[in-house]
Amino acid sequence: MKALVLSGGKGTRLRPITHTYAKQLVPVANKPILFYVLENIAKLNIKDVGIIVGDTGEEVKAAVGDGSRWHISVTYIYQDQPLGLAHAVKVAQRFLQDEPFLMYLGDNILLEDLSPLVQKFNNSSPNAIILLTEVANPSEFGVATLNEKGEVIKLVEKPREPESNLALVGVYLFDRHVHKAIEHLKPSWRGELEITDAIQWLIDNNFRVESHIVSGWWKDTGKVEDLLEANRIILDTQTDCIKGELHNSTAEFKVVIEKDAVVKGSKIRGPAIIGKGARIVDSYIGPFTSVAPGVEIVNSEIEHSIIMEGSRIVNAGRIIDSLIGREVIIQRSQNHPRAHRFIVGDRSDIELL
Ligand code: TTP
Repeated sequence: MKALVLSGGKGTRLRPITHTYAKQLVPVANKPILFYVLENIAKLNIKDVGIIVGDTGEEVKAAVGDGSRWHISVTYIYQDQPLGLAHAVKVAQRFLQDEPFLMYLGDNILLEDLSPLVQKFNNSSPNAIILLTEVANPSEFGVATLNEKGEVIKLVEKPREPESNLALVGVYLFDRHVHKAIEHLKPSWRGELEITDAIQWLIDNNFRVESHIVSGWWKDTGKVEDLLEANRIILDTQTDCIKGELHNSTAEFKVVIEKDAVVKGSKIRGPAIIGKGARIVDSYIGPFTSVAPGVEIVNSEIEHSIIMEGSRIVNAGRIIDSLIGREVIIQRSQNHPRAHRFIVGDRSDIELL
């Protein structure tokens, strides 16, 4: 079995971060989302992994390399435009050939052992297995209707009146027949070749599509709130580990302070992580905060936020619920007149409370 990871796309919902950066590389608990995906695939003992990349391909390649860190072999597959999940499979056809494959969306985090799913696929040889999870708001997802045998009979994208509360999770298993399904597809109203249409084609043409209900936690990290939630869940699973220096400071409850980080005159209340070489001075870092390597925080309070590499936050007051990109500077100046001054990229989102 091979794996196909989708790490292209536009990432419009995460702008402006995705103007300059691959959304799959945004860190959750200081680790890129894509690395969680590759770890999960490596655990299944799948060695041959294709990664679909688009405009941000060079960054993805620089971060992932040849895959040897996870004992997998990575082949990069360039998709020149993000024309849909099924389009990505089409572009990968030469890599996939006729082998069965696990398809995994590179911005999905799943806390679930996928081996029973692969076992089920190998034992009962359906043509596809889709993963489903119960959600409270099905009309925001692709929704599946099942028959009494658990086989999928219908898939609808973001239905206004959902027939079930079972949403499609971004992990799928396919055999070679999916390529045939994709040959028959026409672009949807949004101009994309939809994987849900390919699966519906399989169902309509009497191929066997089974489902597997996910019991563990799952998140599609397409939006900032989802990323912050993923950050919360992952940070909550960590245990205390202090490798950096603490001076005149306290660190309580599930706090990780990585090597060469320095914390002075500050309070860190976990779950939180302070990355390698970061400097926290006279500050408060509250629960569910990830501070990336090389970040400097001085005389500020930050809670429930992700601060990416190399940013500086000085005299900033209290910051909450935020996603702060790389090498961002936020500082309060002592000069008069007291006013806000911004040099902010396109589509930034600033809320003054
Ligand atoms: P989506 O989140 O559905 O799409 P997107 O990345 O374009 O984001 P947005 O809706 O915010 O504009 O994509 C799911 C995953 O699949 C994500 O990791 C990007 C990847 N993808 C591709 O690799 N190729 C594609 O053609 C598409 C549509 C997505």
